[in-house]
Amino acid sequence: MRTIASGGRVSQCQEPRGWLGRLALWNMNSRHSKVTDWGLGQVSIEKQYTILDVGCGGGRTLSKLAAKATQGKVYGIDHSEQSVAVSKRTNARGVNEGRVEVYHGSVSQLPFPAGMFDLVTAVETHFWWPNLPMDMREVFRVLKTGGKLIVIAEVYKEASTTVAKLAEKYTSRTGMTLLGVDQHRELFAEAGYSDVQVTVERDKGWIWGIGTKP
Ligand SMILES: C[S@@+](CC[C@H](N)C(=O)[O-])C[C@H]1O[C@@H](n2cnc3c(N)ncnc32)[C@H](O)[C@@H]1O
Repeated sequence: MRTIASGGRVSQCQEPRGWLGRLALWNMNSRHSKVTDWGLGQVSIEKQYTILDVGCGGGRTLSKLAAKATQGKVYGIDHSEQSVAVSKRTNARGVNEGRVEVYHGSVSQLPFPAGMFDLVTAVETHFWWPNLPMDMREVFRVLKTGGKLIVIAEVYKEASTTVAKLAEKYTSRTGMTLLGVDQHRELFAEAGYSDVQVTVERDKGWIWGIGTKP
C-alpha cells in the first residue's frame, strides 16, 4: 500500500528531484526495461529515424532507441532537471557523438517544430501529463505525416494487478490519470490519430497504445 500512497515515492516518479530522484531514476532504468522492450517490439524503428522520447527519465529508452536509429537522431525531453542530467549521463557517448540530445521541458509545450519526428515514445509517463487530451495533440503536432506515437505503461485502469488497483484507489492523491483500454483508444482517436491499436498483457497489467498521424 505504501508504494502508491506514499507521497515521496510517487512524486519522485512524477518529477524526480535531488539525490533521491537520482536513485529513483537509476532504479527505473532497470525496472522499466522489460516493459519498454515489450512495447518497442510493436513498432518498426528504421535506421534513419528521428525519434523523441517524452518523459525520458533516466535515459535507458534513449539508449535503446539510439542503438536502433544508428543513422538518425534521438531526442529526449523531461520536465525534471534531474532526469535530464541522468539521461545525459546514461547516454554520454551518444550525446558526445551528437546522436542524442536531451531537453528540459514539458510535453505540453514541446520545443520542436511541427512534423519533425518519425516516432515519439512515452514510457511510464503519460499518466502524469497535466492535460492528457491536449498533450496528445502537442505530440501529434511534432510528428511527421505517417509518424507514430507509442505510449507504454505497466499500469492501466481495470487491470487486475495489485499495483493497478492501488494506483486507481489513490488517483485523487497522486494526480495520475489512469485510463482503461477503450479510454486509451478514444484518447488517441480524439487527438486525431488513425490506425489506433491498444494491447494489454493481462497477467502483468502492462499496456501499449499506438496511433499514426494521418
Ligand atoms: C515514472 S518516470 C519514467 C521515466 C522513463 N520513461 C522510464 O521508463 O524509466 C516518469 C517521467 O516522466 C516525466 N514527466 C512527468 N510529467 C511530465 C511532463 N508533463 N512533461 C515532461 N516530462 C514529464 C517525469 O519527470 C519522469 O522522469
